[in-house]
Amino acid sequence: MIKTTRILILPILILLFATQTVAVDIGMAGAVRRKTRELDTKVLDHKNATVGNTPVVVNSPVTIDEKVEALLAKMTLDEKIGQMTHPDSASLKGREEDIKTYFIGAILSGGNSDTSDNSPVSWADQYNLYQTYATQTRLAIPIIYGIDAVHGHNNVYGAVVFPHNIGLGCTNNETLVEQAAQVTAEEMTGTGINWAYAPCIAVARDERWGRTYESFGETPELVKKLGVAHIKGLQGTDLSQKPNVVACAKHYMGDGGTNQGIDQGDTVLDETSLRAIHLAGYVDAIAAGVKTIMVSYSSWNGIKMHRSQYLLTDVLKNELGFKGFVVSDWDAINQLTGPLSNQIATSINAGVDMVMMSGNYASFINTLRDLVEQGTVSQSRIDDAVRRILKVKYELGLFDNPFEDRNYLSGIGSSAHRDIARQCVRESLVLLKNNNNTLPLAKNINKIIVAGKNADDIGNQCGGWTISWQGDGGAITTGTTILQGIKNIVSTGTTVTYSVDGTGAAGSGADVGIVVIGERPYAEGTGDSETLALDTVDLTAVNNVKNAGIPVIVILVSGRPMILDTVLANASAFVAAWLPGTEGQGVAEVLFGDYNFKGKLSFSWPRSVDQLPLNSGDADYDPLFSYGYGLTYP
Ligand code: BGC
Ligand code: BGC
Repeated sequence: MIKTTRILILPILILLFATQTVAVDIGMAGAVRRKTRELDTKVLDHKNATVGNTPVVVNSPVTIDEKVEALLAKMTLDEKIGQMTHPDSASLKGREEDIKTYFIGAILSGGNSDTSDNSPVSWADQYNLYQTYATQTRLAIPIIYGIDAVHGHNNVYGAVVFPHNIGLGCTNNETLVEQAAQVTAEEMTGTGINWAYAPCIAVARDERWGRTYESFGETPELVKKLGVAHIKGLQGTDLSQKPNVVACAKHYMGDGGTNQGIDQGDTVLDETSLRAIHLAGYVDAIAAGVKTIMVSYSSWNGIKMHRSQYLLTDVLKNELGFKGFVVSDWDAINQLTGPLSNQIATSINAGVDMVMMSGNYASFINTLRDLVEQGTVSQSRIDDAVRRILKVKYELGLFDNPFEDRNYLSGIGSSAHRDIARQCVRESLVLLKNNNNTLPLAKNINKIIVAGKNADDIGNQCGGWTISWQGDGGAITTGTTILQGIKNIVSTGTTVTYSVDGTGAAGSGADVGIVVIGERPYAEGTGDSETLALDTVDLTAVNNVKNAGIPVIVILVSGRPMILDTVLANASAFVAAWLPGTEGQGVAEVLFGDYNFKGKLSFSWPRSVDQLPLNSGDADYDPLFSYGYGLTYP
């Protein structure tokens, strides 16, 4: 460990004030030390000094860049490395003092790292605890705290959960997407958490990919537009004001372009196409002021993004002028070759500024310190990384306001927030078939039978990244299921019965059946699918209701287009509802005609998996439903 000492800075021509002592690294190179002195002269709050007859005005640092330089100049190597260290909250449990010991500058809670009771207050308390340790360090640099608030503040029990991005893509409504992101920022602020790993601006090109639902759509145009809206909603016009939070465009880049849609796979493309399809969103995100960018696990032509100095430094930072910081994905550097020291050196030298890790922060810190002392990672690379991180913290207003503001707690899951999510649901629904105007339904129909495993399941309609990483079926959080939404909207005289497998339809005397089928929750690679086939229980439920001789309305709750098999032919009306989140009432409002359908497909719908990848603009484009398709009521 490099020792620090407190020495007196002696600006040659300026009066010395005994209180102006500053610690500098003894081991620092001469140039760095000179810089330190220059800067510290600025820090002196000494307005009346004179040199000869000329007054020398020395200001306190005023601009953010000056503040960053002044702070950086005071930091030891260990303090700098701490800023680059981004461990998960689960690994800090019971060892929160490590924040102080190691000067940890950034914490996250991964998909499975909820607080023990997962209440908003417990998150706020945890945030404040971390911040207390951070502000007790010598330089009192607050932490930035990241979470996957990707469709609302979705880890937290009772928070509003929005449709996943694929549904927002079908709304094609940037004002609404911005509002949704604002709500997310507000709910995050209630817990203190100030950094969302969102938006995902992947352009998913093959829906076998398990992360397709995190993508707004298959074209860069749509992704750019809604990505920018999302960033604006999270960061606001003045990031230093609450409730604005830091956004993170991810996953840079080509995550949605991998061969066969394999998660974390290889995007095999020439550079012109890579730029046109996958870089475009970042150009606009940077122009919109996005403060952070997360690197993709995937590779480009066999080279892992986490080691691509060309794409991280030459293109992103130098060519595109990205001034924020680059964060690695969860334990992603450990996928690079070699021992830990190689993995760290390679990724940091490529341009990663902050390293996200499930645990093992001590080995990261010790190894990086060794690498700098040996010269394998340069002091200037460290300074560049830390400068970027500190700058974002200043821009966020963290130094002035590090603690959670209880005023925002009551907004979490509020009805005002749910109203916006409900609008997102309504506008995301895509009507793909409507024979003989089966829809809209009259509210005073005598009897309705509802069936299907996704009709009465909040967890299934939220999908992955909800409460836990993979998500889960059942009543995992508060909200309205689609079945409940239907019950809420019909006239008092209408009977609504529910039969999961649809067997209750025969002889029930129902006038119409609504069967809600689709996927169960998954996240990341777990969701990769070679078949995109519907569950046999879904096919059975549709058949059972159909066999009762009544019109069947099928609602597909899924993270992507699926192969529809016999279902489409058996349905009188067919609606793609994507992963709508907690506000199932929005589905009922459109089915029963309070609102018209507005959604248009943000993905081309394949007839079979053999057609994949299938994207608008393909030479032999022959989808079941085209990109942009969507019916409305007359
Ligand atoms: C995912 C990221 C996510 C991170 C933190 C990774 O596995 O790829 O999208 O932000 O975990 O949970
Ligand atoms: C974490 C996620 C993370 C994933 C990556 C999970 O245990 O909770 O946040 O993305 O691991 O493998």
